[in-house]
Amino acid sequence: MTALNRSTLSAFILLLSLLQLIQKTQSFHLPTSALVTRIKTQTSSKDMSLSSVTTTAISAASASSASPAPLKVAIIGAGAAGLVTARVLLRNGITPTIFEKDSEIGGVWSYHCNSTTRPMYRGLRTNLPRELMAYREFPWGGDGKSQSFVTHNDVKDYLTRYAKKFGVDGLIQYNSIVKQLNVLVNEESNANPSWPKIKLEWDTENPGGGEAQSSLDSFDAVCICNGHYAAASTPIISGMENFQGKTCHSMEYDDPSVFEGQTVLCVGGRASGADLAREISLHAKKVYLSDTTCPDLNDRHGEPLQQGNVSWVPRTTAVNADSTISFGPTCSEMPHVDTIIFCSGYDYQFPFINKESNLDLSAVTGERRIKPLFEQLWHAQYPSLAFVGLQHSVVPFPFFELQAEAIVSQIEAGSRDSGGWTLPPLEERLKAAKAQAESGGPKPPGSIQDTHFLGSFQWNECLKYAKFAGVYDENLANYIETNKRIYDHSGDQRKRLFPGGVDSYRYNSYVRDDENQTFQVQKCIQ
Ligand SMILES: Cc1cc2nc3c(=O)[nH]c(=O)nc-3n(C[C@H](O)[C@H](O)[C@H](O)COP(=O)(O)OP(=O)(O)OC[C@H]3O[C@@H](n4cnc5c(N)ncnc54)[C@H](O)[C@@H]3O)c2cc1C
Ligand SMILES: NC(=O)c1ccc[n+]([C@@H]2O[C@H](COP(=O)([O-])OP(=O)(O)OC[C@H]3O[C@@H](n4cnc5c(N)ncnc54)[C@H](OP(=O)(O)O)[C@@H]3O)[C@@H](O)[C@H]2O)c1
Repeated sequence: MTALNRSTLSAFILLLSLLQLIQKTQSFHLPTSALVTRIKTQTSSKDMSLSSVTTTAISAASASSASPAPLKVAIIGAGAAGLVTARVLLRNGITPTIFEKDSEIGGVWSYHCNSTTRPMYRGLRTNLPRELMAYREFPWGGDGKSQSFVTHNDVKDYLTRYAKKFGVDGLIQYNSIVKQLNVLVNEESNANPSWPKIKLEWDTENPGGGEAQSSLDSFDAVCICNGHYAAASTPIISGMENFQGKTCHSMEYDDPSVFEGQTVLCVGGRASGADLAREISLHAKKVYLSDTTCPDLNDRHGEPLQQGNVSWVPRTTAVNADSTISFGPTCSEMPHVDTIIFCSGYDYQFPFINKESNLDLSAVTGERRIKPLFEQLWHAQYPSLAFVGLQHSVVPFPFFELQAEAIVSQIEAGSRDSGGWTLPPLEERLKAAKAQAESGGPKPPGSIQDTHFLGSFQWNECLKYAKFAGVYDENLANYIETNKRIYDHSGDQRKRLFPGGVDSYRYNSYVRDDENQTFQVQKCIQ
């Protein structure tokens, strides 16, 4: 063997090792052409003949190894968040597996008559116009003739059509409940070698009866889209043991006629409290709606504000020894009520994350705060675990879509040649997550319960997620601003009304005009 041949062989061996190293440490989702380009850049300026050997070696390597293994991504939940996350993954060439414990899609929008374990009720109409409850690729409503505030069936139908149109429906494993999640700390995710793989265990019910089948698999990333309206939250009220009537939570509510002739107290006056009070008032003798935003009653000698048979009273402070209810010192009324309905919201829950999960995740009952999260999207330590839709007081569908785009941009970042935003290093993520968890949310003075509140702060978050995802452009800016304007308009119309009274804001029909960042609206009784 000549000296030249020996040196060429050594160089060849060296380059093969280099190639193996790069394949291991980069991502084997790099397209072969990208790999070739990188190797060439590293060698060609030194030795042209070496460069040609390299190219041959890589061609041989790529011929022997099939195309890179597809990324394995799981989604937990086929509600509005899970469906759009699946669609965004598909749009980026990744086919996910979706686990859904129900036998249908839609999550909260799957209405079941007389159910006591689902938050949806028969009379519900949306509190956002459908022109806001749409994903960007699949606009909804906007005919300017029919009401924008639609029924739960309409929303379910929209989600069903969306899932069908974009091929998401075929990816759902129905009747499959994820029971356990484990972080495989010693197994590298193929999406990013600094992330761990995630193992899921799930049970699939046999619709024909018989035993459920247990399965497990590991994934390069898992998107948690399990919703947060399944665990009823009830406040601790002093003297509750004295109460002689019935109690329930708004999650159990379906049919207002069961309150015929009763005196009913709704504790909590946001969306659930206001809607339930209005529906029930058509059957009940009297309804009290107890809410923090009740105006000061001192000016009215303690007399509550009233519309029809609904009285708006301050927060419920105690049940007295004789079972009457107190609403604090400013309210003169202390009624006896037949039923208390707690319209006091929900807690986050992740029953599949526990001590066995190798994961630090705090979700304390009553706190309504999940930590540690980076940008309220990624688990700060393990970004292979992402959460869609934790925030409240947002326009959910468009918000979920942008969150999904940000998450997916990081899952496929390893296959991008260059450019684009990427997650900061671990230390930075943990520091930011700690600060965010201790912030009390964006609105001063803040509270733990408001950590995930956004309201008027959501638009900046939308822009941020869009920039993370690299989807920000003029059209998107127009879209977000139009959403903001419609949201502000419909919210303003709603907030002027007596909660539990006539819901005239729902008789509006909106038409979007994104190009001019505006909208038209008109009253409509259809
Ligand atoms: C009563 C009510 C009215 C609302 N009205 C409006 C409105 O008018 N407009 C609006 O935009 N938003 C409204 N919302 C907010 C609504 O929650 C969001 O619009 C959105 O539908 C939430 O979607 P999600 O996918 O995050 O959660 P969900 O819809 O709750 O979906 C979560 C899914 O995950 C599944 N799942 C959970 N755990 C597991 C597990 N371990 N394994 C497998 N699957 C699992 C569930 O079965 C469910 O299908 C309302 C919410 C409620 C409760
Ligand atoms: N038609 C619709 O579209 C519709 C209907 C129902 C629900 N929803 C949606 O469902 C989700 C949940 O809404 P929600 O209304 O059930 O829950 P929520 O928004 O969490 O509101 C719970 C309310 O309970 C109050 N509360 C707690 N303890 C109280 C006490 N001791 N006395 C008086 N009030 C007390 C809270 O007041 P503080 O915050 O002041 O403590 C808060 O206003 C939201 O996304 C909502 O938009 C929509």
